[in-house]
Amino acid sequence: TPPQSKLIPQNSSTQQTEYIKKRIEADFTISRETLLRVTKQMLIEMKRGLQSDGQTLKMIPSFVTNLPTGTEVGSYLALDLGGSNFRVCEILLSSDGSRVRSRQKKFVISEDLKQGTAEKLFDFFAEAVGIFLKEVLGESTDEFNAEHKKLGFTFSFPVQQTALNKGNLMVWTKGFTVSGVVGKDVVGLLQEAFKRKNLKITATALVNDTVGTLVSHAYTDPQTNAGVILGTGTNAAYVELVKNIPKWTGGPVTSGKMVINTEWGAFDEEHTVIPFTKFDKKLDRASNNPGKQTFEKMISGLYLGEIARYAIVDLMKTGYIFKKESLSESLLSKPYGFETAYMSRIERDHSKDLSDINALLGDIFKIFNSSLEERSLVKRVCELVGLRAARLSAAGIAALVTKMNKLDGCTIAIDGSVFEHYPHFGNRMRDALFELLGISAENIDFAQARDGSGQGAALIAALAEN
Ligand code: GLC
Repeated sequence: TPPQSKLIPQNSSTQQTEYIKKRIEADFTISRETLLRVTKQMLIEMKRGLQSDGQTLKMIPSFVTNLPTGTEVGSYLALDLGGSNFRVCEILLSSDGSRVRSRQKKFVISEDLKQGTAEKLFDFFAEAVGIFLKEVLGESTDEFNAEHKKLGFTFSFPVQQTALNKGNLMVWTKGFTVSGVVGKDVVGLLQEAFKRKNLKITATALVNDTVGTLVSHAYTDPQTNAGVILGTGTNAAYVELVKNIPKWTGGPVTSGKMVINTEWGAFDEEHTVIPFTKFDKKLDRASNNPGKQTFEKMISGLYLGEIARYAIVDLMKTGYIFKKESLSESLLSKPYGFETAYMSRIERDHSKDLSDINALLGDIFKIFNSSLEERSLVKRVCELVGLRAARLSAAGIAALVTKMNKLDGCTIAIDGSVFEHYPHFGNRMRDALFELLGISAENIDFAQARDGSGQGAALIAALAEN
């Protein structure tokens, strides 16, 4: 077969641009039929995961068996390890139900810490708690120790829970490779680090961010049945009936319910349904968890920019765009140099001449000469990668809603940078959900949840006391 470029009609550059657009559209577009198959397969995998351990969807019982009633009170500490930051929070649950006050401090997790040792990482956590007590609360460690506060630990990775405040890390995700944690109880590691720093704190709850998001939103909206994170990573938790969890061996549960952490980021690791582009393959191969977290790699903020970067670099290498520019001198040649936040900025440029894209290309990527058509191609790549992510997220939510039998109405609490900041993401999800489920999708409320990880951890720590 002749090389692709020979197939391009050469008569006008506009025609050529249209032709290239069609090609990338074909790469990234997921039809309604495929999306329906994604939802169906997700349901099958969910059931498998509830049946037994070792399945693609881990479907982890969280040991959270009750949602809050809005009457929980008290002051709690919450630690939150998400993907890029570590947060220490103090959460005050006030007696009039819906009011929550919090103070917090954020610490950046360096690449060194992400690839380092367990001791270094957990010492960093304990040190951060010490700094928080002193700087934010103005308490000395001695005063604090006398009070002996309870703590909820949000640790947003796949953890096999063995109790509400115990669980072993199964595998790292989101770019972490810290040694000495997989297979260990992460609360135990935290308590040891506290001991080394003379901090008398007891972690009474170990929580996934999705579970925290669900629980904290349910505090004020009892219709909430699921919590979804669309951020650095992606995942979902929902309320399941214990009788639907054959693998549960933890004894009778009074409420008959259990919040399940699905770990849906691993969905389709066998590549049975989602069409995979050559860019997804490249990203996967170069990642530090090849073959893993397939769904997450197509949806979450850690990866969207990188997929788009591969697609843009491909257009450059094949000579379709920026012919006169140097790839090696551009940040475009650097892995993860094209951040998802840039995609948001590009998608927000609705100007006639795409002037902000022009500024961004020049300032950040050292691409100083671009035509309007080239910029519109870059924008199209971003739109397609972003749209695919939103549609896949919706397919996951359609599976959740179907599993819970809540087609007639429920609230899905959603948090994370992609949902919050990526333009049109929520609307694209709503459109896809409508496409999948029909009219009933109108009854499903996507509610922006904020700081579910902190507040949820505190609430679960509070629930643990009852
Ligand atoms: C990753 C983690 C998961 C977490 C999600 C969102 O998928 O494995 O536990 O909930 O990211 O932060």
